[in-house]
Amino acid sequence: MTDHILAIDQGTTSTRAVLFDRRAKVVAMAQEELPQHFPHNGWVEHHPQDIWQSTVRTITQALRNAGKTIHSLAGIGITNQRETTMVWDARTGEPIHRAIVWQDRRTSAACKALYEAGHEELIRSRTGLLIDPYFSATKLQWLLDHVEGARERAKRGELLFGTIDSYLIWKLTGGKRHVTDATNASRTCLFDIHRQCWDDDLLELFDVPRVMLPEVLDSSGEFGWLDPQLFGASVKIAGVAGDQQAALVGQACFSPGMVKSTYGTGCFMIMNTGERAERSANRLLTTVGYRLNGVPTYAMEGSIFVAGAAVQWMRDGLKLFSDASETERLARASDAEHGVYLVPAFTGLGAPYWDPLARGAIFGLTRSTGISEIVAAGLQSVCYQTRDLQACMDDDAASRAQALRVDGGMVCNDWVMQFLADILDLRVDRPEVLETTALGAAYLAALELGWFSSLDEISALWRRERCFTPNMDAAHREQLYAGWRDAVRRVMS
Ligand code: G3P
Repeated sequence: MTDHILAIDQGTTSTRAVLFDRRAKVVAMAQEELPQHFPHNGWVEHHPQDIWQSTVRTITQALRNAGKTIHSLAGIGITNQRETTMVWDARTGEPIHRAIVWQDRRTSAACKALYEAGHEELIRSRTGLLIDPYFSATKLQWLLDHVEGARERAKRGELLFGTIDSYLIWKLTGGKRHVTDATNASRTCLFDIHRQCWDDDLLELFDVPRVMLPEVLDSSGEFGWLDPQLFGASVKIAGVAGDQQAALVGQACFSPGMVKSTYGTGCFMIMNTGERAERSANRLLTTVGYRLNGVPTYAMEGSIFVAGAAVQWMRDGLKLFSDASETERLARASDAEHGVYLVPAFTGLGAPYWDPLARGAIFGLTRSTGISEIVAAGLQSVCYQTRDLQACMDDDAASRAQALRVDGGMVCNDWVMQFLADILDLRVDRPEVLETTALGAAYLAALELGWFSSLDEISALWRRERCFTPNMDAAHREQLYAGWRDAVRRVMS
């Protein structure tokens, strides 16, 4: 019986496949770490083979873990690290280069030149984004400029561009479909989020041939069918969204004003703004939250590049602990008045600073600073950065959210969640299902399959596991936050 949906979550540091049943319960999952390549300072790449093979292996493993076969799948949902840029041969599928990852800063100088030439207003008004190496357009331009013959081949229709969703769909359908969804398109810096189409002025600005771009579809729909040669059956790919937008759906933030924050490699705080594409006065992004039946729901987004990656750095780089689960014990043992600030600007600073040349630093060290204090400061940096975003969102929305729905690896840490509630002075809601990103992709597929007839039915399934309420006096909170602002000022370029 086809009563399961498989969600593929191809993220920055791992690939996961999660099997859900009709009641949106996780039946089984499989996960693999994704190798990272850092060929130069500030460059980050992924090997397409790793992306593809880890996807195939985790699908196979998740089904095996559940004791199911491909025949039990009613549909597939895909969610993915956004902005990461791929170009491949339209005939052979051979990528012309490794994928350039969203964190990659190689196009900083190109972005500076765009800014100085006065293109920010065009980009902002059409795409809702800012000029930053984060987005796909300058990465694609770099590939077309630096891989020999690439632009000519692209013009002849021999090369295809895509974000990771697009590449995976192309591979999964045996090269039959070259498509993406509106949320992923909205992160390329080539897509007009108001008219919902690729923008000719931007294609000209970045010198990108239109013929290499994927067709843009709703987030729920028919993206193609699995090539039966891969897994032995043909299954519909029925839902697609960038991972942060998928988390918005998984958290059932369907009403304007609802906010979620996902703590993965980075941290992405997104507020649903409904049918209006609100322009931020505080350098947040305007983006497509999801698009259903041709109607986009917009969102405002604050993007922080380093959240879980700071924990990973403290583990692998500094070797302060061997497993992330130890951080809660260490942080609880820290001196509450430690005065240490760790600014994890390893790849520059995202919202609201947008400073690609900033680099990380630790301030406030004393003779009594130990591992616990540094770990606490690393964890607190994630909360302070969330507060930076909250301040912008409150100002833009001219009101305060009632609560923040959180998900992602770090939210299991109760100490972090309490500090987050304290520093935001806001209730933090942790849901029962923490596989929110995969769940969102599964929901999008489920809508297409007719399992739900409205978003209200999905909202009704959202359950809170625990809430954290603020418990810090205002003077202390503001004093701590002022210290953070001062530390950030000192690392900016
Ligand atoms: O915009 C980048 C974002 O999509 C990456 O998410 O979860 O892979 O860190 P994640």
